[in-house]
Amino acid sequence: MRLLLGPFRWLVTLIVAFVLFGAAQLVPYRVDDPPVVAEPRWNDPATRTLAVVACFDCHSNESHPYAWEKIAPLSWWITNHVKEGRSALNFSEWGTAQQGRANPDEIVESVRNGSMPPNFYTWLGLHGDAKLTPAERTQLADGLAATLAADPGTPSAGGGD
Ligand code: HEC
Repeated sequence: MRLLLGPFRWLVTLIVAFVLFGAAQLVPYRVDDPPVVAEPRWNDPATRTLAVVACFDCHSNESHPYAWEKIAPLSWWITNHVKEGRSALNFSEWGTAQQGRANPDEIVESVRNGSMPPNFYTWLGLHGDAKLTPAERTQLADGLAATLAADPGTPSAGGGD
């Protein structure tokens, strides 16, 4: 043991870290994309296009993480985030019990007031298309308002938080 803790200490530490990192990749906790059940009846294809670029990574069954986001332990955080996003709102499970708790007003308001998509989503130049211009933001909010007025789905009881 003395030998291991001697001059090879850093090498041993490195090997242990490497093995743990490798083992972490085997943990089966990752973003999966279950089949799309139903989407809202979009008022206009342009509304859907904006929602896809700005919302779908976290609020649909069509999440497309970057390859490096699939590497543990970052992937665990991303997976958890997508789970929470889907439980608040899932555009792919419209009208089902998995639609999420957010009601139409909250959804439209989150776009208008800029709280969604979260600003960190577009940090470092990532997800550039999701960085909405003021015009796109208005277009998406108006489009969602029209879509959800006609097809509110079934937000889970209690609404959002
Ligand atoms: C990077 C991931 C991500 C993106 C992109 C994103 N959201 Fe969210 N959103 C979340 C998460 C996570 C939550 C759950 C927050 C919580 O539970 O506190 C959430 C919650 C919500 C809620 C419920 C209110 C709340 O705070 O719980 C609404 C409404 C919402 N999002 C709308 C949108 C819309 C509309 C878009 C697209 C314009 C969007 N989000 C884009 C991650 C995201």
